[in-house]
Amino acid sequence: MMSNKTFTMIKPDATQKGYTGAILDQIIKGGFSIKALKWTKLTKEQAGAFYAVHSERPFYGELVDFMSSAPIIAAILEKDNAVADFRTLIGATNPADAAEGTIRKNFAASIGENAVHGSDSDENAEIEGNFFFSQLERF
Ligand code: PPS
Repeated sequence: MMSNKTFTMIKPDATQKGYTGAILDQIIKGGFSIKALKWTKLTKEQAGAFYAVHSERPFYGELVDFMSSAPIIAAILEKDNAVADFRTLIGATNPADAAEGTIRKNFAASIGENAVHGSDSDENAEIEGNFFFSQLERF
């Protein structure tokens, strides 16, 4: 279990608006080390599989369409207390509720197009990191 690691994606809205560099800068300045990094574009099937846990929620189709609409950045990050500290750094799921200075407050437009994903538990950080990265692609 990677308790000092978390998994993130920079979502299609942010990559398309040119926010990738600024978001990575805020992540690094927030004390996180990048342990793996990938620029890729999800198919609908891949996005559906990644978000399968939300398949019964009313926004699932919209979420899958959005996450497969343009490239994303996937990354494994390391820091003490990584999962909780990263969710603090990114702010609330809905940017309207996000604290000043958080990544979502700075870069997100709406609850659907909210710039970044952050794992919600150590267990899911491990699962989500393994979804994108082989052992050869991380250290
Ligand atoms: S959280 O952070 O897991 O507690 O958030 P949650 O509310 O459970 O939402 C899970 C993911 O679904 C996205 N989401 C939505 N997408 C489109 N439309 C609507 N209305 C919507 N509501 C929530 C939200 O951005 C979460 O994505 P991730 O990538 O997990 O942050």
